[in-house]
Amino acid sequence: MSLLLGALLLVAAASTSAGAATGSPPTSAGAPRPLGQIVPAPASVAPGGTPYTITSTTPIRVDAASGAEGRRIAGYLADVLRPSTGYALPVKAEGPGGIRLRLSGDARLGEEGYRLESGRGAVTLTAHRAAGLFHGVQTLRQLLPAAVEKRTKQPGPWQVAGGTVEDSPRYAYRGAMLDVSRHFFTPAQVERYIDQLALYKVNKLHLHLSDDQGWRIAIDSWPRLAAYGGQTQVGGGKGGFYTKADYAEIVRYAASRYLEVIPEIDTPGHTNAALASYADLNCDGVAPPLYTGTDVGFSSLCVPKPVTYAFLDDVVRELAAMTPGRYIHIGGDEAHSTAHADYVAFMDKAQAIVGKYGKTVVGWHQLAGARPVAGAVAQYWGTDGNEAEVVAAAKAGTKLVMSPANRAYLDMKYDANTKLGLDWAGLVEVDKSYAWDPDAFIKDLPAGSVLGVEAPLWSETLTTSADIEYMAFPRLPGIAELGWSPARTHNWPSYRARLGAQGPRLAALGVNFYRSPVVRWE
Ligand code: ACM
Repeated sequence: MSLLLGALLLVAAASTSAGAATGSPPTSAGAPRPLGQIVPAPASVAPGGTPYTITSTTPIRVDAASGAEGRRIAGYLADVLRPSTGYALPVKAEGPGGIRLRLSGDARLGEEGYRLESGRGAVTLTAHRAAGLFHGVQTLRQLLPAAVEKRTKQPGPWQVAGGTVEDSPRYAYRGAMLDVSRHFFTPAQVERYIDQLALYKVNKLHLHLSDDQGWRIAIDSWPRLAAYGGQTQVGGGKGGFYTKADYAEIVRYAASRYLEVIPEIDTPGHTNAALASYADLNCDGVAPPLYTGTDVGFSSLCVPKPVTYAFLDDVVRELAAMTPGRYIHIGGDEAHSTAHADYVAFMDKAQAIVGKYGKTVVGWHQLAGARPVAGAVAQYWGTDGNEAEVVAAAKAGTKLVMSPANRAYLDMKYDANTKLGLDWAGLVEVDKSYAWDPDAFIKDLPAGSVLGVEAPLWSETLTTSADIEYMAFPRLPGIAELGWSPARTHNWPSYRARLGAQGPRLAALGVNFYRSPVVRWE
């Protein structure tokens, strides 16, 4: 398979340089896209045989084993394909021919893997689990011409190259984080981002729900957190918060795209919005004003006070009850106003509370400098890869999610001219963002320490969906590829060509992406 993939990459590279020389797109009009030319790169690609063509009579067929969830995924695929093709694409029971979705007993495809077989009469997606069918649908979308993503009728033809893709992820955890505290984003804005993440097989959505500037989730037992602590944001705008119904809708929508929501309540620092909402949470009993600036490190929960843990217990209990996913993120970064001994004592109690409600703790990697409980996950956001306490925690069994700020932080400016974003971790062009190996970024990690990758997007400077998209695209697909694709496929020239092919697709989807000069856009 690797020989075939190598051959394919050579073909892709050759067609790209030919395209660059003539100024024409690398794929001639009418010919199907090369089978493996998608993001993330598939694990194996065996091109060959007759292309499959979607026509006005094509059905989408779902086998009995796929059940109601298979039919829902077929409906999702039909919703993508119908407006641009203009075809009816009825969802039918299994049978020969058409676009076929099948759940097999083939456990080798794993929890998220799939096989796509394309030929004269059918394109068949086979998976062991429904998640694999959903990811396979994303591959099928990308194998069709970019115009398939438009919402008005397009000319076609709608061909999928012949051959077989067999694919499953390198890491189980492939996340994106959205900071809804520094600026609030509505459920509709979050769902728009979820749809964009799903296209690249991202399977975790980490929501940074609280910080100094705003508390964004309704907690019934502490109602002022959201009602008061949620009423502003950076720059002094009106802020906002999610009701429990809003949050349930985001969780439902994310699950329908196979993303697990990971809520974060940042503690013990980054807590001004909570401290402003309840005077009792402060060591001196005096509530500070709401904060709309962008400084960090000035706030702390009061570690010695029992009310701090009553508060945390209530918040985690309510958050756990509304979160079907396995993780709760307790922050732990930049606690510059908390003495180290207090930080360690606080983290002991906070981790125990998360465990009490049956969830797995995630913390920023400063948790490694405290006492991570068994099973805790540390999210690495450093830039050097030489933090001894992180290596020590990993040797003791703590798993890592890799978000090195000088690679994976989507809020870093691309170059000195980028209007949005920050630059404290440096300027991060698209090639730099892709140039790292999650297993190797931190030196001397034991094998198997890395659970996956996450691309955080902090929102000090971002207020609209267009802003989110400009910073996330096109770096997010690269982080998604590092999370999904086998290490042996990691290759900038190959990625650059495949990313260039995403340009017309992102444009057809109405995504406001940065047309990086290091990418040769089709
Ligand atoms: C962070 O960027 N403070 C996690």
